[in-house]
Amino acid sequence: MGPWGSGIVVAAIAALIVVVLLEEPVARPSPAERGELSFRKEAMCLTCHILNDRGGQNAPPLDGVATKFIGLKGGRGQAKKFFHDHIIDPKNNPGTERAKYPFTQMPSFIGLGEEKIDDICEYLLTLK
Ligand code: HEC
Repeated sequence: MGPWGSGIVVAAIAALIVVVLLEEPVARPSPAERGELSFRKEAMCLTCHILNDRGGQNAPPLDGVATKFIGLKGGRGQAKKFFHDHIIDPKNNPGTERAKYPFTQMPSFIGLGEEKIDDICEYLLTLK
């Protein structure tokens, strides 16, 4: 090897390491993380609901809503089913606070599609 030979080998190895590092899979958002985005940006659930002291005044606060409905419905699966049915058809699947909000009706969000609705349910299940 000439005087620059080992430098080239080191550079080649460094380049290889960089390529290997770039190949590492990028962390994908979880269903709950995707759900939070839909909840906030697309469905804008906080135009009516309050969470962590932010949001509208026209609907029950969603702080602790997972704990509440897991307890009420008897498990995570049943709570998720309630959230799902409530998002699709709130009129026929009301929560426990409807009487407190006589002037607001939650609209159906069926237009979001099953996948996004499922993600939103996963997000709601993190609100303990
Ligand atoms: C136009 C206002 C409005 C919007 C927007 C809205 N909601 Fe509601 N939501 C209500 C009202 C009013 C109630 C109480 C009556 C009922 O339970 O149907 C409610 C109840 C709920 C409950 C039951 C809470 C409890 O403690 O009983 C959940 C869960 C819920 N909404 C989730 C959502 C999610 C998720 C979104 C967004 C996809 C959303 N809401 C968007 C008005 C709204």
